Amino acid sequence: MAKRKILRFPDERLRRVSKKVTEFDDELFELLDDMRETMYANEGMGLAAPQVGVPIRVVVMDVNGNFFEFVNPEIIHQEGEQIDDEGCLSVGQFNDKVKRPYIVTVKAQDRLGNHYQITGEKYFARCVCHELDHLDGILFIDKSEHGKEYIEKHGKK
Ligand code: NI
Repeated sequence: MAKRKILRFPDERLRRVSKKVTEFDDELFELLDDMRETMYANEGMGLAAPQVGVPIRVVVMDVNGNFFEFVNPEIIHQEGEQIDDEGCLSVGQFNDKVKRPYIVTVKAQDRLGNHYQITGEKYFARCVCHELDHLDGILFIDKSEHGKEYIEKHGKK
């Protein structure tokens, strides 16, 4: 396993739409293991593959000590609402309020390609929404209360 470099806003590679995973092979296992190590080394709650420069639909998360791996995740149900602070390993020292659903159900594959579903609330729901947005090139600052000001101030290379 190895730690990987995390891309930082305004790197354009964070804005790509990531591709679906079709090969469940050693390269994917290595990526997932490296992402896990990178997330924990940076004390993150979640990490999406495009954040380490790999534009495929892969996410790792740790919510309350529970580790999750999602390949090709999709939100298939959401309900309720919550507003709370978020940050991002690709954004740096900035936390801001974002509105998210309170409960989400995710459909995904595991590293072997097996399909499964999981439902969670609160931090789980928030983290899923944040990480899945990365797969579509969306950052929390695109949606947060003062994100526009942050983008205007830091968005130039
Ligand atoms: Ni993030």
